[in-house]
Amino acid sequence: MDENALTVCKLFVVGILVTTLMTSGLSATDNVKLEEPARARVDQCNETALLAEMEKCADQFRSDMTLIDPQNWCNITHFIGEYNLFSACTETKAVHTGCYWPNPLVESYIIRVHRHFFSNCTMERVVPVDPPDDTLTVLIAVPVFLTLVMIALVVWRSKRSDVLA
Ligand SMILES: *[C@@H]1O[C@H](CO)[C@@H](O)[C@H](O)[C@H]1NC(C)=O
Ligand SMILES: *[C@@H]1O[C@H](CO)[C@@H](O)[C@H](O)[C@H]1NC(C)=O
Ligand SMILES: *[C@@H]1O[C@H](CO)[C@@H](O)[C@H](O)[C@H]1NC(C)=O
Repeated sequence: MDENALTVCKLFVVGILVTTLMTSGLSATDNVKLEEPARARVDQCNETALLAEMEKCADQFRSDMTLIDPQNWCNITHFIGEYNLFSACTETKAVHTGCYWPNPLVESYIIRVHRHFFSNCTMERVVPVDPPDDTLTVLIAVPVFLTLVMIALVVWRSKRSDVLA
């Protein structure tokens, strides 16, 4: 069961990362594709109003989460419904205040909420148990080793062409 909790938490963290990456990718393409309309919409974005609305979404999420046993806060099956409501709330409110969704303000807000509720899932439960040191070492060592090999190759090739030239 601990294994499952671990996996779920890890998936969750990965999900957050992927979402962040995807959304930053998406906003990048948005800026490229929709130059004029994007400017118009961003100018209309009322950040004061957006922040106030985010606060309301977070308050709602907080009160929803109090209905869930804190022991289950790391179990995504228990809070996915509430989480979806929160996510939908941020989206609706962002659009309502003339802002894009997602946008950096909303993202930083969501990250704050994540930290509040799920920091213990990653820090206290995941880290001490997993990953095993060996796996971690390999994961770190491989890219470092490859980088060193690439540098060595480049140096070797440039020396070789010096000699040949
Ligand atoms: C999460 O909650 C569900 C429903 O109560 C339960 O079946 C499942 O075993 C729990 N998972 C973990 C990892 O605790
Ligand atoms: C932004 O929203 C706030 C709060 O709703 C409002 O007081 C303010 O007038 C709005 N600003 C603009 C530029 O619309
Ligand atoms: C996380 O753990 C700390 C220390 O055990 C505790 O004070 C805090 O309330 C916990 N936070 C959550 C969201 O469970």
